[in-house]
Amino acid sequence: MSEFVSGRHFLNTPGPSNIPDRVLRAMDRNGINHRGPEFGALGRSVIGQLREVFQTEGTVGIFPSSGTGAWEAALVNTLQPGDRVLISRTGQFAHLWEQMAVRFGLDVMALETDWRHGADPAAIEQVLDQDRERRIKAVFVVHSETSTSCMSDIPAVRAAMRDHPALLMVDAISSLACCEYQHDGWGVDVTIAGSQKGLMVPPGLSFTAISDRALTASRNGGGSRRSYWDWEPLVNANKTGFFPYTPAMHLLFALQEAITMMKEEGFANVFARHARYAEATRRAAKAWGLELNCLDPAAYAPGVTAIRVPDGHSADKLRNVILERFNMSLGNGLGRVEDKVFRIGHMGDLGVLSLTGALTGVEMGLRAAGIPHKAGGVQAAMAYLASPT
Ligand SMILES: Cc1ncc(COP(=O)(O)O)c(C=O)c1O
Repeated sequence: MSEFVSGRHFLNTPGPSNIPDRVLRAMDRNGINHRGPEFGALGRSVIGQLREVFQTEGTVGIFPSSGTGAWEAALVNTLQPGDRVLISRTGQFAHLWEQMAVRFGLDVMALETDWRHGADPAAIEQVLDQDRERRIKAVFVVHSETSTSCMSDIPAVRAAMRDHPALLMVDAISSLACCEYQHDGWGVDVTIAGSQKGLMVPPGLSFTAISDRALTASRNGGGSRRSYWDWEPLVNANKTGFFPYTPAMHLLFALQEAITMMKEEGFANVFARHARYAEATRRAAKAWGLELNCLDPAAYAPGVTAIRVPDGHSADKLRNVILERFNMSLGNGLGRVEDKVFRIGHMGDLGVLSLTGALTGVEMGLRAAGIPHKAGGVQAAMAYLASPT
């Protein structure tokens, strides 16, 4: 039981993220006819807005699903059992995507990492170079590995692919709307995102930006058997703002409002705010004397920071103490880093005071849970955040 039952719960998981009041209010209304003109206008508006977020002139489809559904759609629309794919094992989400590919009978080649760096473009280049018969049909990369808080450099991966014809598929689930992302400019074929992270909308929508090359592959018999996850009926209906089935319309009202808010703030400012909060969080961790999970400063994630607890200590115990004593949720360590890291989510709707409040909760939790650390993390974050931008 929390000591502070009257305060608002601090949701500092790396998704679902906090939902702004304006976005909540946008859903507080009756439904509309999903085959009527008002809905068509809503659908066209959000698809147009999403194009701006993905920075694409091309196709964006919206499935009423979590991000995992869009992963599946990407596989079944472009790949057949036996097709070879290359994936960089950057963390738990890359691992889960790989497992899905294995379940679909794909021939998966995986590049190991230590879960403390992003994908290695040179290693990808080497494998593709050796693929003289061009058997590799797709390269999968997770842009922001939410489990490790390491980014992969997508333009570098694209450059490493040179003229290899494999499709580049990117999971941008925890990076989209937190930092610069250019689906077209970076030459990505399939980019997958979800509603519940940087976009500040409740869970339940996935977004897929699809290049013409990927669409052509899906149309020319490139994929597997599919029905609900078929891109074709979805993107055709989405073109006019509609869906092949009953859409999650309240989430679309929410999305429209959330992107409107981001445009009011300006995407560059939204990204700068994320970078600043991520830096403040890292400064706190360093002042506590704790190790960041991500070892490459060029790969620090904008929306989440994974922090390691000293050997012999439990990150889960720390999180439980923080939840019970201070009414705050943090992200847990996943897979290989279970109980070794805790993750502070700082994506989406967050102000300076909410962030410093969250860091204060962590510092008090470190003390209450008996985790060896130095005081002063919050001070370090405050000093940084108080300085001019
Ligand atoms: C990078 C990444 N990929 C995939 C997923 C899975 O998305 P969902 O839980 O929406 O299915 C997540 C969720 O946290 C994620 O962070």
